[in-house]
Amino acid sequence: MTARRLLLLGPPGAGKGTQAQLLVERYRIPQISTGDMLRAAVAAETEIGIQAKAMMERGDLVPDEVVIGVAEERLAQDDAQRGFILDGFPRTGAQAEALDALLERLGTPLERCVALTLDEEEIVSRLLKRAEIEGRSDDNETAVRHRIAVYQEQTEPLVAHYEAQGILRRVEGTGSVEEVAKRIEEALG
Ligand code: AP5
Repeated sequence: MTARRLLLLGPPGAGKGTQAQLLVERYRIPQISTGDMLRAAVAAETEIGIQAKAMMERGDLVPDEVVIGVAEERLAQDDAQRGFILDGFPRTGAQAEALDALLERLGTPLERCVALTLDEEEIVSRLLKRAEIEGRSDDNETAVRHRIAVYQEQTEPLVAHYEAQGILRRVEGTGSVEEVAKRIEEALG
């Protein structure tokens, strides 16, 4: 089966963005990352960016209605009609329900949800390493640990949501980028 409407779920630093890039090359479909879109909005000082900046720096989630609007607009663009890789969206029950409803209206349900797993200390170590290179404003230890707690509380329950839909595959996020990519390839079948 060629899965082309994909969702990468997982805690911060699990490798969603890195693996999404490899899937972009493999399937020639766009990565839709609400984190990247929100960071672009912050950099451009748009209304959404100004609203989201402090929440993102703390590691809190941006309100559902804002993120759902951003994601729905992106999913409506031409290049997403042949498929997409969602990275970092949905992140709450309300976002997952909005996505289900949208895709049902379009008759294009998700084909696979890959849930990447990684333990807390490895997450912290990866993101503090990235902080030295890229200086992302939410890659400091306090914000990273808060992002992990937010993930556990608000996003991890979505694993059960997609498991109930029969489209979930769990993939270990440890090891090299290539090793994780191979596991994802197997999980996509
Ligand atoms: P977002 O940008 O989505 O950040 P995140 O989920 O915290 O994820 P990261 O980008 O940190 O990690 P990743 O899993 O993509 O890993 P990556 O491949 O980058 O969200 C940021 C903020 O925006 C949120 O906190 C929230 O405020 C807001 N937001 C976004 N979406 C939202 C939504 N839907 N609702 C509400 N708010 C939202 O890798 C991480 C690092 O590890 C990199 O340096 C990479 O090179 C390295 N790495 C990757 N794979 C490996 C490997 N196998 N081995 C060693 N290093 C590796």
